[in-house]
Amino acid sequence: MEDKRPEWSSHISFIIATVGSAVGLGNIWRFPYIMGKNGGAIFLLTYLLLIAFICVIPLCCELALGKLYKKDAINTFKSINPKFKFFGWLCIITVTLIPCFYFVVGGWILNYIWIFLSSKIPDNFTQYFSSFSSQIFIPVLLTLLFLLMTAMFPYRGVNKGIEKANNIMMPLFALILVILAIFAITQPGAKEGLFFMFKPDFSQFNKSMILTALGQALFTLSIGMGTIITYGSYMKEDTKIVKSAYTLICCDTIIALLAGIMIFPIVFSFGVEPSAGASLAFISLPEMFAKLPFSWFFGLIFFILLFFASITSGISMLETTVAAFMDNFKISRKKASVITTAIIAVISIPSALSFGVLSNFKILGKTLFDFLDYFTSNIMLPFNTLIICLIAGWCIPDFWKKVFGESFFGRVCNILLKFIVPIILIFVLVTGI
Ligand code: TRP
Repeated sequence: MEDKRPEWSSHISFIIATVGSAVGLGNIWRFPYIMGKNGGAIFLLTYLLLIAFICVIPLCCELALGKLYKKDAINTFKSINPKFKFFGWLCIITVTLIPCFYFVVGGWILNYIWIFLSSKIPDNFTQYFSSFSSQIFIPVLLTLLFLLMTAMFPYRGVNKGIEKANNIMMPLFALILVILAIFAITQPGAKEGLFFMFKPDFSQFNKSMILTALGQALFTLSIGMGTIITYGSYMKEDTKIVKSAYTLICCDTIIALLAGIMIFPIVFSFGVEPSAGASLAFISLPEMFAKLPFSWFFGLIFFILLFFASITSGISMLETTVAAFMDNFKISRKKASVITTAIIAVISIPSALSFGVLSNFKILGKTLFDFLDYFTSNIMLPFNTLIICLIAGWCIPDFWKKVFGESFFGRVCNILLKFIVPIILIFVLVTGI
């Protein structure tokens, strides 16, 4: 066991690590395709309003719970009231299930890095993707490889592992993203792509768009799984909660926007449907890269970008479970990391096979991979967030004063925390199920 709770070595390391957690496949892969499917600019507007005024509340709650209690997710809930321990476990179960599909995508990324690196670029990516993902050995092997690469960092500890990984990978990530975005806006379809992103068509507005936008906002900020509680528990005493929350939101949103600025001009230049969906990153984009001069170069740096984004998020998921196992079972960091890795390995193997031999194995009509994604993102995420808001708002005396202050701003946040955000989340859950 670590004797003393570790602390981020500086405020900036803390911000980089939380941004590393927040910025992931959710920004680069999920956000553009969801925006594409939901009409572009009008979705973006809804999303921005929700993230700035609604999602900031549970984000502040998780940061504050971490800072106030300085414990892992389970013990945080237990310290508030021993009866709440169960909710801590729910967070841990969810955050252990997310990697079981997220890391399968991580394995695909490794495969694409390999094909662009070795210049074995296939002619038809649609065919290539479906034949590759339905194989047995390679997807499983690469999923496990991605898991091991990620697990190395929580294994080495907060400062030597997690902090170092983020401090190196996140700046490289930002650099590659800017290069790709600049390249994209020099393409012939740039104007059309930017119009699609920034010129709202109000006739496309609908109710289900609000739900999708909220789900996306929670997922991209890593809220609802105790991850931010865990990262917040390593926070320095003088770190400001609301300011950190808005810094995180700004960075995450800027990166999601840059991802859109990188993708839509290319999409319009090559005449792909912006609503192509989940296959955008693994079929449409590589197909376009293949047509460019230096195709291997753009393909390679795009997938390295995805790799950095997903590994820093993966680290934060594993760390949440590792911290919980360490504190609850009183075991060492190393042992907790090995156990977490083993559990995830066992579940992600059948999940990686969902596109091939196990494609007929269905839970509620979905393959294991789709079921894990649906169950964690659409049900557990809003549910856990609701519980966190209700507990923080109603069960901890004067919580809002400690977090938001007693000013007018604080009072507004208190009303949002106690009433408005829970009502919206209940609405999302009921409609979602
Ligand atoms: N936010 C990450 C992304 O956008 C995903 C993620 C990391 C996450 N940790 C999480 C989502 C914890 C929910 C809970 O890809």
